[in-house]
Amino acid sequence: MDTNEMTGYKAWLRYETAENETLREEYRIYCSSIAVAEQSRVLLTAARELAAAVRSITGHSPSIAPSLDRASGVVIGVKGKLDPELEQALSSDIAELSDEGYVLRTLRAGSGGAERIAIVGGAEAGALYGVFHLIRVMQMRKSLGGLRATEQPANRLRMINQWDNMDGSIERGYAGKSIFYRGNAFVDDFSRIRDYARLLASVGINAISINNVNVHREETKLITKQYEETLSRVAAVFRDYGIKLFLSVNFASPIAAGGLPTADPLEPSVKEWWAQRASDLYRAIPDFGGFLVKADSEFRPGPFTYGRDHADGANMLAEALAPHGGLVIWRCFVYNCLQDWRDRSTDRAKAAYEHFMPLDGRFADNVILQIKNGPMDFQVREPVSPLFGGLKRTNQMLELQITQEYTGQQKHLCYLVPQWKEVLDFDTHAAGKGSTVARLASGVLRERPHGGIAAVSNIGDDACWTGHPLAQANLYGYGRLTWNPSLSEDQITAEWIRQSLGCDPEVETVVSDMLRKSWGIYESYTAPLGVGWMVNPNHHYGPNVDGYEYSKWGTYHFADCRGIGVDRTAETGTGYTAQYHSPWRETFNSLELCPDELLLFFHHVPYTHVLHSGNTVIQHIYDTHFEGAEEAAALLEAWKSLEGRIEADYFALVAERLAVQSEHAKEWRDVINTYFYRKSGIADRQGRLIY
Ligand code: GCU
Repeated sequence: MDTNEMTGYKAWLRYETAENETLREEYRIYCSSIAVAEQSRVLLTAARELAAAVRSITGHSPSIAPSLDRASGVVIGVKGKLDPELEQALSSDIAELSDEGYVLRTLRAGSGGAERIAIVGGAEAGALYGVFHLIRVMQMRKSLGGLRATEQPANRLRMINQWDNMDGSIERGYAGKSIFYRGNAFVDDFSRIRDYARLLASVGINAISINNVNVHREETKLITKQYEETLSRVAAVFRDYGIKLFLSVNFASPIAAGGLPTADPLEPSVKEWWAQRASDLYRAIPDFGGFLVKADSEFRPGPFTYGRDHADGANMLAEALAPHGGLVIWRCFVYNCLQDWRDRSTDRAKAAYEHFMPLDGRFADNVILQIKNGPMDFQVREPVSPLFGGLKRTNQMLELQITQEYTGQQKHLCYLVPQWKEVLDFDTHAAGKGSTVARLASGVLRERPHGGIAAVSNIGDDACWTGHPLAQANLYGYGRLTWNPSLSEDQITAEWIRQSLGCDPEVETVVSDMLRKSWGIYESYTAPLGVGWMVNPNHHYGPNVDGYEYSKWGTYHFADCRGIGVDRTAETGTGYTAQYHSPWRETFNSLELCPDELLLFFHHVPYTHVLHSGNTVIQHIYDTHFEGAEEAAALLEAWKSLEGRIEADYFALVAERLAVQSEHAKEWRDVINTYFYRKSGIADRQGRLIY
């Protein structure tokens, strides 16, 4: 089947014909021809993208030429290379543009001339983003008259991490197989990779690592000569869309792929081996991005084997990449997964900070530490990692997870934009008020040369990319937030709905309400009050209070017949709260001040403890689980009210997933409530049936 016919394949680049004739005519006139002054690949990509969108939206094909032969049209160009008249007219708008920034403006050509649209990038990638902005305006069915926008991305790196393996599987993938690999080789046909690049560029993504952070045997070879030629072709696909290619590397590659006896980062032969690999890679891919590294974590090799630390390891790789302008992205997801949770002197939540804070200032300038949003592992609710506010003299970036490992695995609806907004807006108080995670990750607050946001992708070769069609909203929202973390949830939601599902106001009202509530609903029928986990081992789907695989050395939630929660206070607990700046340190440390939704993350309390909400902990567990299951069922009902307003196959696919969610929410409700009823012996105040 033609991919474009597949349900949901076009995602938010659907380009429906404009319903309103006046608007359609306006778009047609403004975009009747497209001028690209320079024959650069990215600018040509931009022109082709715009032409395709205009053709679908208006029914007319614009011409593409080096200059405008008619009075009206769109000019796509780059600052410093425009015709003098335009350069002059836009001088104040473009003066401060960074390479990826752009100006989008409707202006009159000469005195009395027709109106035309100028899209000018600081460099060519900026122009491409400007084009996608213009397309978005048309998809939102807004007028093009009087357009005047100047945009610059807030983050230098706006990255996607694929956790794809070369056998075609995807670690934590819930949307089919890899679009990159099959049977320990790259796929032959790159058209799906190209379509993915389009989707990513349209929301501002500029970097991608294309293999799993757990680098297995075949992927270890990706940095060797064997794959150079194929990789350079993959890089070319992404390059057309302004996206740089990165690879995840195995720290033990010198042994595994190079035949050396050691991977000791201080050993000259090891350094030489990496330097050679780097120069070969850059010969094949001159704009190669660099390496992403998971080391000394969950059984992955790293510098610890040789008595070296993370800075030794990262700096050795950084030295190999530096002459070529490459980056090392070193992950901070480092903890002892075999820890005994009963031993209160160790606390997994403390691990990243304890490993990396002592190294602050020791990392090379082209190393970036990639920090998961929370101190644990992408749970439905976690506090923000204190490492963001801790590091002062090290580049850092935020790591999010779009793929819904712990948030319903794309069978359940869980819109993560509200969660990410909370993370980005969190004020660490690291350098006084206003020290938000957004400003720390971008590097602005500490004036770092590098920074940004990365996230684990949620796509596979499913027809609609994401398994659950509505999970596309997470990929869309992620990209938009990397570009501008201060965009509101409402704006992102409205944009995604109109572009993906059309401009029917009823659809927008219902779907935005469903999305807005979905994270809260998912949280309410799963792990309560920030305690986390409670999932089946290994695959992490479905309820199992004592199930999580790395908790077999004592339960992580400390539930007994009297109470539940983890005491992380300074006085009687693990002392984790001390990793935060004031006032969070005191807030989290205090039973009275700690926010309800994180209570069990920070405190061990009796089931009868009264929350700020006025409810006891046990009653909160019962209530939220009963309500959550009801609300999950209501999501399905809400969707059903849209039957006939949404394309039939798409409608059916979502309805099917919501029905699964509704059933599964009941299972969660029953397993969790029963567990805590049996543990506590306290009955539900409302006398509802607990199985
Ligand atoms: C989680 C996830 C793993 C992944 C790891 C990581 O633990 O379950 O599949 O490898 O995170 O981020 O490295």
